[in-house]
Amino acid sequence: MKEKHTPITMLTAYDYPSALACSSNPLIDITLVGDSLAQVCLGYSSTTELSLSEMIHHSRAVARGTTHPFLVADMPFGSYQISDENTARNAVRLIQEGRVEALKLEGGSEIRNIVRKLTEMGIPVMAHVGLLPQRHVSMSGYKVQGKDAESARGIISDALALQEAGAFSIVLEAIPKELAAFVTEHLRIPTIGIGAGSQTDGQVLVWDDMMGTWAGHQAKFVRRFGDLKAERDSAIQKYAEAVKLRTFPDDSESYTIDKTTWEDITR
Ligand code: KIV
Ligand code: NA
Repeated sequence: MKEKHTPITMLTAYDYPSALACSSNPLIDITLVGDSLAQVCLGYSSTTELSLSEMIHHSRAVARGTTHPFLVADMPFGSYQISDENTARNAVRLIQEGRVEALKLEGGSEIRNIVRKLTEMGIPVMAHVGLLPQRHVSMSGYKVQGKDAESARGIISDALALQEAGAFSIVLEAIPKELAAFVTEHLRIPTIGIGAGSQTDGQVLVWDDMMGTWAGHQAKFVRRFGDLKAERDSAIQKYAEAVKLRTFPDDSESYTIDKTTWEDITR
């Protein structure tokens, strides 16, 4: 697809229905069980709070609803930092129990040995550079990366090192569009952008941001393609009103018993 300049579409899913929705459209190429799961589904304040077992639980549900899209899951914070052996075991669990096909890891050249190790095990690895939400504290918040020369050069050399280590693709998050275009041009592997301009090989958005169900902070790079929150809230309002007014259920929504049988019983 990169060679043919066909943009790659990636969308997150966190459960069976969202996975079915991604699978129902042939234009979606990759479903990502992102660790944004932490905030948008589980109510945590950061992805660092998400455990491996929670990720496996949700990945399994997504896998049950996934047909054609390539299925990728994030390795949660803490599941690939402890030791090589622990990383390998956690990766195998995500593949076997979480039933995903590939794993995504946040980090630059400092994780290249992990990327190489998993790749050699036959696990396709998607890299992720730029803004790294799992490091939001040490990065002093969720801020655009690669704005100064040193940071931009760092992202370029990280991307090259991760490609060299065997990554099959790389997410570029919240970096200037010029830098994303440059990285895309200089890599053999496809780049998937989020807040990285239009010149990456593909794009990814978080389900709730895209659908307009997320009422929290909206990053500059989010476009709401739907307004499901308004739709959902109005349905709740109508349902609650109908119950309060006893207009729900009506006769067509209720069961009845044969009149003579009922007279016989109540006689
Ligand atoms: O967790 C996530 O949803 C992600 C994408 C936004 C790239 O990592
Ligand atoms: Na993520």
